[in-house]
Amino acid sequence: MDKLIIQGGFPLNGEIRISGAKNATLPIFCAGLLAESPMRFSNVPHLRDVNTMLLLLAHMGMQVAVDESMNVTLDASKIHNPLAPYEMVKTMRASILVLGPLLARFGKARVSLPGGCAIGSRPVNLHIKGLQAMGAEIHIEHGYIEATAKRLKGARIFMDMVTVTGTENLMMAAALADGITVLENAAREPEVVDLAECLIKMGAKITGAGTDVITIEGVERLQGCDYSIVCDRIETGTYLAAAAMTGGRVKLNNTRADLLEAVIDKLREAGAKISHDANSITIESDGKLKAVNLRTAPHPAFPTDMQAQLMAMNTVADGVAQVTETIFENRFMHVQEMRRMGAEIEVDGHAALVRGAKHLDGTTVMATDLRASAGLVLAGLVARGETIVERIYHLDRGYERIEEKLSQLGARIKRVSS
Ligand code: EPU
Repeated sequence: MDKLIIQGGFPLNGEIRISGAKNATLPIFCAGLLAESPMRFSNVPHLRDVNTMLLLLAHMGMQVAVDESMNVTLDASKIHNPLAPYEMVKTMRASILVLGPLLARFGKARVSLPGGCAIGSRPVNLHIKGLQAMGAEIHIEHGYIEATAKRLKGARIFMDMVTVTGTENLMMAAALADGITVLENAAREPEVVDLAECLIKMGAKITGAGTDVITIEGVERLQGCDYSIVCDRIETGTYLAAAAMTGGRVKLNNTRADLLEAVIDKLREAGAKISHDANSITIESDGKLKAVNLRTAPHPAFPTDMQAQLMAMNTVADGVAQVTETIFENRFMHVQEMRRMGAEIEVDGHAALVRGAKHLDGTTVMATDLRASAGLVLAGLVARGETIVERIYHLDRGYERIEEKLSQLGARIKRVSS
């Protein structure tokens, strides 16, 4: 298993390119199931989750071609097996995103029910309820969601929690349904908007994406198109937090500040200077930061996927910060490991109180999810001495070549295989 070895205490300086967003790529590849002609995607990140999704689609009969620049072509004309087996769903919960498109296009789907997850219980009841409201017959048998429908019918669907993949699944299903679907209390995340834009390019009739009411008028058929995936706002935020902590001047290219305003606000409040143009963001910091309170909530509020990274920042900031997690019940797993590096953090239910320490000390740490691992890498960049981050296969799910990008900025970080 690979690990990262980091020598802390070096400022970050220079420029890197931000990759396409993992959480936009995964649903948009599933939208490929809806198309009657091939789709071509660019700005696709080279990540483990992206490969897992391509394997899952190929397993169903999708013809997949990937060139050396990670441009991906998907052709759904030979889908013969509308099945997402347990072995794949258990490695990537986003596999649930095939359910809506399979049902809408092929009238049936068999998708393993995702189990629990390191960050929370993460049920998919709202995906199922929404599809049932559109006329699907759904039973849970032997751990699988068995779904059939002649043609889905448009419906008014209220989701009593904001769910990102739930909104995406229902939007894809509704795109080929008979009649109008209205999704109320829909997720407003930029990845939902990117999926909507791709579906519109394929011929779907969708309005309101980016607001909490999305209206979809079903069409008879959708065609393939060329689509460039939106930039990764969480990768962007992670490198911004890294530069704020280490000090230095870093320019991130191929990214957009309007997708992460809540994160940029917090970094400015902490003392970093941030400027941007349409395609890039520049951060300058002297590494002396003030503690900042934060509370995660659905977009446009502060994203749960940046909570661990800003927790890391608060561990070395001046003052005391309250970090409240409202999306997932078990997303403080980095806390124990950060404490082992000398961080002062107390957890009480959904809230953590972080007292800024003078310094962190490097040691061997590991995390059980992607963003927690990113938080530990950031802590390692400012810790005294050597930090070894184990189990980095979590990082490889969501950060493209993280050690190469950080090295390019001057960090002392290397990957070793053991
Ligand atoms: N929920 C339900 N019922 C449902 C669906 C969700 O109760 O049917 C609850 C969840 O348990 C959670 C809340 O609603 O408490 C929000 O979950 P959501 O469905 O929005 O999460 P998700 O769609 O499974 C996506 C991202 C996550 C990100 C969350 C929140 C993808 C592939 N994943 O997950 O990304 O944390 O939204 O923004 O888009 C990551 O990239 O590290 C990651 C975990």
